[in-house]
Amino acid sequence: MSMQTEKRRTTAVDIAARKGGEKIVSLTAYHAHTAGIVDRYCDFMLVGDSLGMVMHGLETTLPVTLEMMILQGRAVMRGSKQALVVVDMPFGSYEEGREQAFRNAARVLKETGAGAIKVEGGAHMADTIAFLVRRGVPVMGHVGLTPQSVNTMGGFRVQGHSEEGQKLLEADARAVADAGAFAIVLEGIVEPVARAITGSIAAPTIGIGASPACDGQILVLEDMLGLSDWAPKFVKRFGALRDHIEAAVAAYAGEVKAGTFPGPEQTYQPRKR
Ligand code: KIV
Repeated sequence: MSMQTEKRRTTAVDIAARKGGEKIVSLTAYHAHTAGIVDRYCDFMLVGDSLGMVMHGLETTLPVTLEMMILQGRAVMRGSKQALVVVDMPFGSYEEGREQAFRNAARVLKETGAGAIKVEGGAHMADTIAFLVRRGVPVMGHVGLTPQSVNTMGGFRVQGHSEEGQKLLEADARAVADAGAFAIVLEGIVEPVARAITGSIAAPTIGIGASPACDGQILVLEDMLGLSDWAPKFVKRFGALRDHIEAAVAAYAGEVKAGTFPGPEQTYQPRKR
């Protein structure tokens, strides 16, 4: 007989039920060790395709592959126990049509064990999202500043400044929610529009550069830790990891050069007979 002693993992259904309630806390995670820390404080973790820029130094997320997402998705699942793990579908792995999207989403869920996937895009993705949800794939939406469309947006631009832009964003979020997305990331959206969307759709909204009006928040972990050398305006640095790492590496280099590391505590001696 097995006894369940640990809290079960949060599901997409649990997140959907949090609409309008206690704020949903989330961060990105790409590695087992950071996932283990984030897991204790977050309702869900996103294995974001931002890993291409953060881990690999790419200029955009466009070159990220399904294999990269699956590899890091597995690591995050191994490192965590409680939070829902959502894996981003990379550019080119779902836009061709709903069958392609299902085939690749199924691979992600099977090969990582994650509980949900995320796709970027508004009304034009609604049919694909509904197809996936009907076939057992929990989908998180992502509207507003969608980094995979950087080339058609003309850069990483905050959305919703014009009345027309506002109407389009609201229609996009509604279409994605109506298609069955269990939550929607709102990225780079001006406050009144994020507020209007949050107040008018059934799915919880997760903001990143989209004001406190959202049902929850997400940040890229390395940005909020202060590890990235640059971060956008919406990022608050909750740590100064870059400085800590630099100080530690400099101290290590100094001790190696001075011959004081390794010291007696780090040196093996033969066992006493
Ligand atoms: O890839 C990512 O990290 C994301 C978040 C910024 C929402 O999509």
